[in-house]
Amino acid sequence: MFGSLLLAVLPLIPYPQSVIEGTGCVGDVAPVYERDASLGAEAYRLRVADGRIVVTSATEAGAFYARQTLKQLRRKDGTYPSVEIADAPAFSWRGVLLDESRHFWGKEVVKRVLDRMAAFKLNVLHWHLTDSHGWRLQIDRYPELTDRGARRPIPDWDWNMRDADGAVGEYGPYFYTKDEVREILAYAKARHIRIIPEIEIPGHSREVILCHPSFTCLDWGTFVDMVRTCKQVDQAAALCVGNDEVMTFFEHVFDEVCELFPDEYVHIGGDECPRGNWKTCPKCQKRMKDEGLKNEDELQSWVTRRFSAYLAKKGRRIVGWDEILSGGLPEGATVMSWRGAEGGIAAANQGHCAVVCPHRMCYLDYPTGEKDDTCPYPRFCAKTRLPLEKVYSFDPLAGIPEAQHKFVLGSQTLNWGESTWTERDLNYKMWPRTCANAEVVWTGAKKRTYDDFRARLDGLLKSE
Ligand code: ACM
Ligand code: ZN
Repeated sequence: MFGSLLLAVLPLIPYPQSVIEGTGCVGDVAPVYERDASLGAEAYRLRVADGRIVVTSATEAGAFYARQTLKQLRRKDGTYPSVEIADAPAFSWRGVLLDESRHFWGKEVVKRVLDRMAAFKLNVLHWHLTDSHGWRLQIDRYPELTDRGARRPIPDWDWNMRDADGAVGEYGPYFYTKDEVREILAYAKARHIRIIPEIEIPGHSREVILCHPSFTCLDWGTFVDMVRTCKQVDQAAALCVGNDEVMTFFEHVFDEVCELFPDEYVHIGGDECPRGNWKTCPKCQKRMKDEGLKNEDELQSWVTRRFSAYLAKKGRRIVGWDEILSGGLPEGATVMSWRGAEGGIAAANQGHCAVVCPHRMCYLDYPTGEKDDTCPYPRFCAKTRLPLEKVYSFDPLAGIPEAQHKFVLGSQTLNWGESTWTERDLNYKMWPRTCANAEVVWTGAKKRTYDDFRARLDGLLKSE
């Protein structure tokens, strides 16, 4: 009965590797599960025919993905079309970044994001928990981080100061307790989603410096002026890495992060850290001399190596933004390529793993360009547009020699919080563009045309 391909494509996103449509349908029966150890870790086969639904996989994850496919196949009358599917992801890192520092969402929103991620077979939540705009994770040893550090205490970009109702004023303190994190981790695990926490060093750390004034290279008056006037905010957010107290502080933070989060990866940031303060800071210059470092790029690289080694002792690996390439990568470091694809290409060529998510293809704070995109935060939404079609056109392997493809773990969309205030805003920006990226990373080389994707998306929306 199989083999007669029908013209209409089943509304499946991400589209499976192989779909053979049959004729007729199967009623609402419970699936039968079979194991086949020869299948890949996330692979599955699904056969809907002869009154039965049979799911075959090597793992629970494979069976879980088969169930997500079944949910999309299910028609309004409760039946399923006859079909035979063989499926497996092209990439192992199929992610979503959620920025909780600029805007704190809270656990119920996170759970709803995880539900949608699961429906589209996404498996990594990159949880951006710390940044200059607020520290969002309980650290028992340093309660000030979730008090002062979790508020927005000083004038900042004005559109960053609005709370969900659009009011301007103090924001926070908002943060996740460890119990809430455990609850979210369990919720994600049940959906075969890993959570990678991000703790930003050595830039984007203004909220930490506000709690610990000795952590800046600058004198306090200069630091406060920079923050008040919103000038050189990146420079103000750089930690003094010549200060041993800074190193010890973050070792303690990473101790607690590793106790809480089970994943092998910890994201240590590394982006947008201007190195100007370090040039004139006696402590940073002494560090460079003591460690035999030729320039400030090497100083940042020293920080990356130091925490990479610290985390390696705990059995963890680091992932960092592509700036960690300059000055040299520590062994085992994974690069998240955001300024373009070049960081991913360089990492792969050096035999390092990469997650390729260039901002022009994957940053969902860019407006969609659709008529109904009200983009109420014009200061942030410059000229760049990121329409659905462009997200769909992305190829994480572009420019990477075939021999290095194995180093490309995958991609993700990035949901920065500056211009996202309500869950409606978040959903509007995240979906369906994240569906397009989900197909990029799951279907891979077998990705279909954009028109085909649109038709399936419309089909899915109609069946909701
Ligand atoms: C970034 O957008 N600074 C990673
Ligand atoms: Zn310094």
